[in-house]
Amino acid sequence: MVETTLSVIKADIGSLAGHVVVPDFIMEIARKELKEAVQQKIINDFYVANAGDDLELIMTHFKGENNEEVHKLAWDTFMKGTKKAREMKIYAAGQDILSDTFSGNIRGMGPGSAEMTFTERKSDPVAIFMADKTEPGAYNYPLFRVFADPFNTAGLVIDPNLNQGFTFIIQDIKTDVPAFVEMKAPEDMYDMLALLGSTGRYTIKKIYRRDGLVAASISTDKLHHVAGKYIGKDDPVAIVRAHSGLPAMGEVLEGFTLPHLVSGWMRGSHIGPLLPVAMKDSRCTRFDGPPRVIALGFQISNGMLVGPIDLFDDIAFDISRQRGMEAADYLRRHGPFMPARLHDQDMEYTSLPGVLKKFKDRFSDKEIVPTGDAVDHSDSAE
Ligand code: F6R
Ligand code: MG
Ligand code: MG
Repeated sequence: MVETTLSVIKADIGSLAGHVVVPDFIMEIARKELKEAVQQKIINDFYVANAGDDLELIMTHFKGENNEEVHKLAWDTFMKGTKKAREMKIYAAGQDILSDTFSGNIRGMGPGSAEMTFTERKSDPVAIFMADKTEPGAYNYPLFRVFADPFNTAGLVIDPNLNQGFTFIIQDIKTDVPAFVEMKAPEDMYDMLALLGSTGRYTIKKIYRRDGLVAASISTDKLHHVAGKYIGKDDPVAIVRAHSGLPAMGEVLEGFTLPHLVSGWMRGSHIGPLLPVAMKDSRCTRFDGPPRVIALGFQISNGMLVGPIDLFDDIAFDISRQRGMEAADYLRRHGPFMPARLHDQDMEYTSLPGVLKKFKDRFSDKEIVPTGDAVDHSDSAE
């Protein structure tokens, strides 16, 4: 039986009026390139979206994960978009492109990717989550809730097909060589949370049903780690299959109702709520955010995409957005103070080393009593 691969490959190659939104002409270039790739039989089908300033290429094919032809297609599309963005002087043109030459796989070259290969079920609903102004660990909390928390996912308790739990593949994204660990819910749940709570270091890579059926795949590319210096946030994507022995679509979406706090936002150096928003609100404005996530629902049908439906475009998520904005407002009053601002080791921009250097000679091992500046107080009232 032929297996279908769903590849979501994304990059920030330039955005309008700052880091706000992908310009329409870049979306058009991407549609044109992918349409030609369908004619050339490189891919079967595609959909182009944007998560704020990130261009998202959603593609189906029969070539498996890490396929050179498919990755090259994404790379060439990003290069074509970058070229035009540079000509048009679009802001941060080519931001996530770390090299001039393609080396066989898009991983480690700047763009992010989540891929999943499976034998299609009788009917295969999927949700694709795409976030802006945050990092891969942003999915730890919602996906733990979806696949391991019975207070979120009723099916874990009342559907015998989900009752055995799920296997999580967790990645340490700070190591130079890939490091993955397999943990099972419910039995390893507490140990799993010890890792997943450290969202900047341990991220979910994939989730499987106990019989091996793949249920979720997340991009874990850590851009600034790859680049060795700050060049943008990772703005991760996640693919989640739903129903028939997996959490229902409503249980998958329920995991995103909290607007939990994530790292990112302004200059990749703050915490903020992850707002679940409709496509029309997929643009980051206030303080370059707040961080947000869109969700598109598709049916995968004989290697093709049917849809999408804009899953967070629903009044049912208004309360989450409202709560998120209240949290955002509260956090912003902290200005440069931690924990609203990240710990200096986790900041994408920091002036601290420069400040310490500047004041190096003014540090003392004794408490300093100011000698006082020469100011004339003779006119004062006393
Ligand atoms: C965060 C992000 C923005 C920029 C900020 C400063 O991921 O992209 O918040 O960090 O707007 O941008 P530059 O350094 O381009 O002026
Ligand atoms: Mg940007
Ligand atoms: Mg972005």
